[in-house]
Amino acid sequence: MSSQNPSLRLGVLISGSGSNLQALIDAIENQQLPGVEIALVVSNKADAYGLQRALKHRLPAIYLSWGQRNVGAQFIAPESIAPEFIAPKPTMSESEIRLTALLRLFQVDLIVLVGWMRILSAAFLEQFHQRVINIHPALLPDDGTGKTYTTSDGTQIPVFRGLHAVQQALDAGVKITGSCVHFVTPEVDAGPVICRQEVAIEEGETEETLHERLKVVEHRLIVEAVKRCKSVE
Ligand code: GRF
Repeated sequence: MSSQNPSLRLGVLISGSGSNLQALIDAIENQQLPGVEIALVVSNKADAYGLQRALKHRLPAIYLSWGQRNVGAQFIAPESIAPEFIAPKPTMSESEIRLTALLRLFQVDLIVLVGWMRILSAAFLEQFHQRVINIHPALLPDDGTGKTYTTSDGTQIPVFRGLHAVQQALDAGVKITGSCVHFVTPEVDAGPVICRQEVAIEEGETEETLHERLKVVEHRLIVEAVKRCKSVE
């Protein structure tokens, strides 16, 4: 973390609505996250509503087009960025190299993925060890790995990972699901959990209604997770 700046500077990565970003903005504005600021918001979608939310609150907000092209050892960066800001890894994609440059330029300490729909490579993550967290709309075990999760009532349920975790919980017919915030590791949705909350699935629930209810929980969880990261920095 930067020793010159006592604040924990967040880089918030989004792809869509940004309601979790809004929860962070509100918590910071309401002094619930002292010593935390949002340094930068990045979206891989130009029309992500979360970008509007950021701009409304006068936060730096950037659309970064995202391709998977691997540039090998070739290094591409805007001329305005001094090379010492960037230590590109040869196996990062061009997009990841650009993202790295932005995160360093804005002196980001903690990268917060809230609805970010792109997988980040091991080479990218290696640069920010234990400094990338993600919110996931399903329950993961404490260490993030494994195929089952034991709920607080002792029921074993499958672990749902990936893009369709909410629908997977409904399809599996489980009675309890939830959301969690975890550290990001190269395996998708499989990193150590920072905090989580269970949510009971109601009769007649659809993916949409369940996801909306999960998001209400997430808005508290993401603030709690950042608070914990701030307390151990
Ligand atoms: C959240 O439900 C999060 O768990 C999932 O994507 C959703 C993002 O929602 N990864 P929003 O853009 O913060 O409203």
